Amino acid sequence: MKIMLPANSKMHSTAFTFGVATASFQIEGAVAARLPCIWDTFCATKGKIRDNSNGEQACEHVKLWREDIDLIESLGVDAYRLSISWPRVMQKDGSLNPQGVQFYTDLLDELIRRGIKPFVTLYHWDLPQHIEDNGGWLNRQTAYQFADYADKITQEFGDRVYSYATFNEPFCSSYLGYEIGVHAPGLAKKAYGRQSAHHLLLAHGLAMKVLQKNSPNSQNGIVLNFTPCYSATDSVADVQAADKADQYFNQWYIKPLFDRCYPDIINDFAAEDVPIIEDGDFDIIAQPIDFLGINFYTRAVYKADTENGFSQVDMAGKPKTDMGWEIYPQAFTDLLTSLHALYPLPPIYITENGAAMDDKLLDGKVDDVDRVKYYAAHLNAVNDAIEQGVNVVGYFAWSLMDNFEWAEGYLKRFGIVYVDYANQQRTLKTSAHAYRDFIRARK
Ligand code: FCB
Repeated sequence: MKIMLPANSKMHSTAFTFGVATASFQIEGAVAARLPCIWDTFCATKGKIRDNSNGEQACEHVKLWREDIDLIESLGVDAYRLSISWPRVMQKDGSLNPQGVQFYTDLLDELIRRGIKPFVTLYHWDLPQHIEDNGGWLNRQTAYQFADYADKITQEFGDRVYSYATFNEPFCSSYLGYEIGVHAPGLAKKAYGRQSAHHLLLAHGLAMKVLQKNSPNSQNGIVLNFTPCYSATDSVADVQAADKADQYFNQWYIKPLFDRCYPDIINDFAAEDVPIIEDGDFDIIAQPIDFLGINFYTRAVYKADTENGFSQVDMAGKPKTDMGWEIYPQAFTDLLTSLHALYPLPPIYITENGAAMDDKLLDGKVDDVDRVKYYAAHLNAVNDAIEQGVNVVGYFAWSLMDNFEWAEGYLKRFGIVYVDYANQQRTLKTSAHAYRDFIRARK
C-alpha cells in the first residue's frame, strides 16, 4: 500500500517539510512531576471522559522519550511537532520549574542532534488549574500570564526551536471548553465562549511580540483548526446558514489576525454575548506571523434553522472515520484556496491531519489500509491547493502514536504507530511504513 502524488508535485522536494505531531497532555503521563491542569480536573469529573480515563499514564512519554525519538527518527521525518506543558515548566509562584524545563531542553537537544526540526506549540490545552481557579481564559489577566510564561520558557530554550506556535486551535479551547463544555474546563455559556476566544487571541498577540523579541530566528505563528462549512442545498437560506456557521466556527479565529475585527456575525449576538474588547486589542492580536498552522480533519454541512440560524446536517451513509467524521478531502483543497483568496497569508504548514480508525493489532501487525488511503487522498488534496497557488510548505501527520484523545479517552486511535497501553509497546502500523517510504522517496 503506497502513498502516491503526481510526479511533478512540489511535495516531492526535500524543501517541503514532513513531520509527525503530538501534544503534551495526550502522551506524557508523569502528572505527579507537574502542577495539576484543567484536563486532570476534567478527567476526574464523572461522565466527562468516555472511558473514564485520564492522563496519568498516557504513553509514558516522559519516561520513554528517548525510545520515542528513535521511533520518530526511524520514520525519516524532517520535523517533530510537540507541545510544552505549561504546568510542567512553571510553578505556582510564576517561576520556572527547573526539572520540567530540563525535560524539554534534553528532548530538544536530542532532536537537534538527530537533525529533526523541533516545532514547538506553547499551548495545547493544558492550562494550569490554579489559573483556571482564578477565572482561566475568562480572566483577561490569563493572557498576560501566558505571555509571561512564553517569555520565560523561550529564554530558556534559546535557539533550540525551529518554529514556535503560540496556540493550538483556540476554537477548541473556547468553544468546546467554555461554550458547550465538552472539553475542559467544562463550562457552558455562549458569552463564556466568546470572551475566552477573545482572551486567547489577545494572549496570542501578546506572546507573538515576546517570540519575535526572544526568538527572532524561529518561524513564529499560530495553529488554527478549520472545519469548512457547506450548505445542504443551493437554497439562499441554506447558503446563508453555512456562511454564518463558517463565520462562527472558522473565520472568528483567523479574521482578527489579518483584518483587525471579528466577522459580521458578531452583530447578530445578544448584547450579553458580545465579548468585552478593549481599545487597541485588535492591534495586539494582528501581530505579523511568520507562518500559519492549519489543522484539518473533516467538513460540516449546514441547513437553515429559524431558531439558531444554522444547524448541522448528519451525513448518513457517507464514508467516515472512527470519530464519525466524514472523509471529504476536497474540503481540504477548498479550505486552502478559499483562505488564500480571503487573507494575505504567510507560508502555511499543515500542522495536523489524520484519521482515527478501529485498529487491531494482529500477529504484531496493524494493517490500517483505510488510514493510508486517508493520508494519500489528503496529501493529494494539499497538492491540488499548491498547484492552485497556495503556499503550503509543510505537513504533519496527527499523530505520531495513539494517545489520549481528550473526551474520547483511549478509545480512539489516531497514531501511525500503535500503542499497546498494557505494556507501552509501540508498533509501526502499515500507515507508518507508507509515510516513511513516501518521505524517503523524495529528492
Ligand atoms: C485536534 C487536536 C489534537 C487531536 C486531534 C484529533 O483537534 O489538536 O490534539 O486530538 O484533534
